Amino acid sequence: MTRSEEMPARAIARRRLLRFLMQSPLLAAPGLLAPGLLMPARALGRPEFAVPETLDQVLDVFQMQRAAQKVLDLETWHFIVNGADDLRTLDANRAAFDDWQMRVRRLVDVSRIDTSLELLGQKLSSPILLAPVGAQQTIHADGERATMQAASERGHLMIASTVTSSSIGEIRAAGTSPLWFQLYPSPDQGLMRHLLAVAEAAGCLAIVLTVDSPVRGNREGERWFAQHPTGAGSARKGPPRMGNFQGYKGPTRIGDPALTWAIVDWLRANTRLPILLKGIVTREDAALAVRARVDGLIVSNHGGRQEESGRGTLECLPEVVAAVDGRMPVLIDGGIRRGTDIFKALALGATAVCVGRPYLFGLGAYGEKGVAKVLAILDSELQRSMQFAGTVSIAAIKPAYLQRRPE
Ligand code: FNR
Repeated sequence: MTRSEEMPARAIARRRLLRFLMQSPLLAAPGLLAPGLLMPARALGRPEFAVPETLDQVLDVFQMQRAAQKVLDLETWHFIVNGADDLRTLDANRAAFDDWQMRVRRLVDVSRIDTSLELLGQKLSSPILLAPVGAQQTIHADGERATMQAASERGHLMIASTVTSSSIGEIRAAGTSPLWFQLYPSPDQGLMRHLLAVAEAAGCLAIVLTVDSPVRGNREGERWFAQHPTGAGSARKGPPRMGNFQGYKGPTRIGDPALTWAIVDWLRANTRLPILLKGIVTREDAALAVRARVDGLIVSNHGGRQEESGRGTLECLPEVVAAVDGRMPVLIDGGIRRGTDIFKALALGATAVCVGRPYLFGLGAYGEKGVAKVLAILDSELQRSMQFAGTVSIAAIKPAYLQRRPE
């Protein structure tokens, strides 16, 4: 039989099989005849699930997001999900993960997976860190203390923001996880010295200087709520508490449009802690950071809340990794919602990753338990990705496990 004669015969057989299946009692079983069973997988997607009603029902970060949206007032919800302008940078962060596909290996013993690593001399059980987020008491009454408790319960490193509701000392007292302090530059050196002193006194292990905020991003959602107080959100709760500014007498301006690379030398002269820069997205700046002898970088665009029309951080990662060439750890954040996202970031050379909104969804929906649940979900998804790929340790995750999606 030639190939052209063979094809119609196959098509007929397929049609017969489908007809048989449609008549089968198997398909009449409850649920199986649900609309969409024979539809493409995409049509069976997540949006058809109801909003989870209990913590146990939450299966992934997207469901936690919906649980949080249900309980939070609109203004607080916008505080979390907002981005700059038309959200192009925000969207690019997520989209970048779809540009890569997994090249998994088979027949590797993956019965034991080790996700531990060493980061700036600290042994960590997971490469997933909690990104700095300010004003967490606007999201949940327990704020950053709940976040620290959950991070400690699950053994994750937490980076506390300059503008936390609780002070860094209160956060430190809430748990035992390794803690870093994120510093916003200020034109007032006295304020920065005060912040470094409270961070060191609290036992923070590193300073993370955020360098992506010469000005505040144009978050129109935030501006809209400032013009149209809803009676919920900050209008109800009053101005956010700033625990780290307590006891400081001078002006508390944060953000310095005049900031230059000279800040690194100033910082080194004013703290004994390792210094990381958060917000580097180009090979040029990575090379300057190497020259300035900083101790680590976080590839970040502030979760799409600062510059508009930026690239996704995963797109920025390879050039930063190449410029650094192993001389310091390179972390990444932005758009990480799945274990596969974490795997892809590690494969492209990240030492570890940070998540922001995912744990805020957990905090908003269920407080400490919600944060712990999100961390557990991401840890288990990462482990599963590693098992499918055949990589038993973080160090084993290499670029060869990925392929760029064909155009
Ligand atoms: C942030 N981020 C942030 N970064 C920082 O250096 N200092 C801060 O105080 C804050 N505050 C803050 C508040 C909120 C509500 C969000 C969503 C984000 C940015 C944060 O550290 C991180 O870069 C992003 O959140 C990472 O992106 P994903 O994981 O949220 O997509």
